[in-house]
Amino acid sequence: MWVRWEVEDIFYLCPIKAGMDFVAFRLLLHKQYMGKIISLANQKGGVGKTTTAINLAASLATLGKKVLLVDADPQANASSGLGIDIRSLEFTIYECLIDGVEPAKAILPTEIENLYVIPSHIDLVGAEIEMLNMVNRERCLQKLLAPLKQDYDYILIDCSPSLGLITINALTASNSVIIPVQCEYFALEGISKLLNTIKIIKGKLNPALEIEGFLLTMYDNRLRLANQVYDEVKRHFEGMVFDTAITRNVRLSEAPSHGKPVLTYDPESKGAANYMDLAKELIRKQ
Ligand SMILES: Nc1ncnc2c1ncn2[C@@H]1O[C@H](COP(=O)(O)OP(=O)(O)OP(=O)(O)O)[C@@H](O)[C@H]1O
Ligand SMILES: [Mg+2]
Repeated sequence: MWVRWEVEDIFYLCPIKAGMDFVAFRLLLHKQYMGKIISLANQKGGVGKTTTAINLAASLATLGKKVLLVDADPQANASSGLGIDIRSLEFTIYECLIDGVEPAKAILPTEIENLYVIPSHIDLVGAEIEMLNMVNRERCLQKLLAPLKQDYDYILIDCSPSLGLITINALTASNSVIIPVQCEYFALEGISKLLNTIKIIKGKLNPALEIEGFLLTMYDNRLRLANQVYDEVKRHFEGMVFDTAITRNVRLSEAPSHGKPVLTYDPESKGAANYMDLAKELIRKQ
């Protein structure tokens, strides 16, 4: 049987099975027609959030998914890493959040088919203060992305290395969070603070927020330390760690200076293969 259902002013036709309850029906509808919003978050700096945002987004797009990458970091590394000239932008995430500019005006295409980006700008540094007096200041990004959910299969949000208001906005807007963990000494430092923030957001702002997975990055299996970190993270967060680990690969660090994801910079590289495996693992999980 088919039913007609309205979400945010758009009507959908959805198949339902006899006896299906309301919650199951809403979940089915959501899975079929709404994109998934995933934040890349860890307040520890330099752990691979942006590298993962760019290359996971590019891999998902190459696998035929329509993807929007939202750059929520004033450093704007995800924007420049995708070849956007960040000095000449009329609209960025800043204008959308602060001046109420429609997100459609800020969305830019990239050289990868199916991959779009809402770029960032250094001005975003001041946004946290400007947002302080806004009503529902934790929900600004959620409100902004809600009408875009039906246009994309995945919306990835690249967060800055902080647990400030913009990151809280990102987590409030998201269905899930990927936590990159660098395979180095002190890898788990600060993770409990991040997990506590996620717990508070789940309790107060976004009960549906899930941990999509911990992602081991810059892994070098020749190093004893990397293997120890790998084992420790797997033991600590059993069942929550992606099977795919991202190995240390120089091509991944070179690609952003050419404004390209590794998939177009060097498709044969180990980094390209790792992020393609991660994209496939993520799709399989849904
Ligand atoms: N697997 C990898 N192999 C080699 N270099 C990597 C890898 N992943 C990331 N890098 C490099 O490490 C540095 C930090 O990565 P990245 O910018 O992705 O981290 P980040 O968590 O986004 O940092 P920030 O917290 O400053 O936003 C960059 O120079 C990047 O090119
Ligand atoms: Mg970054």
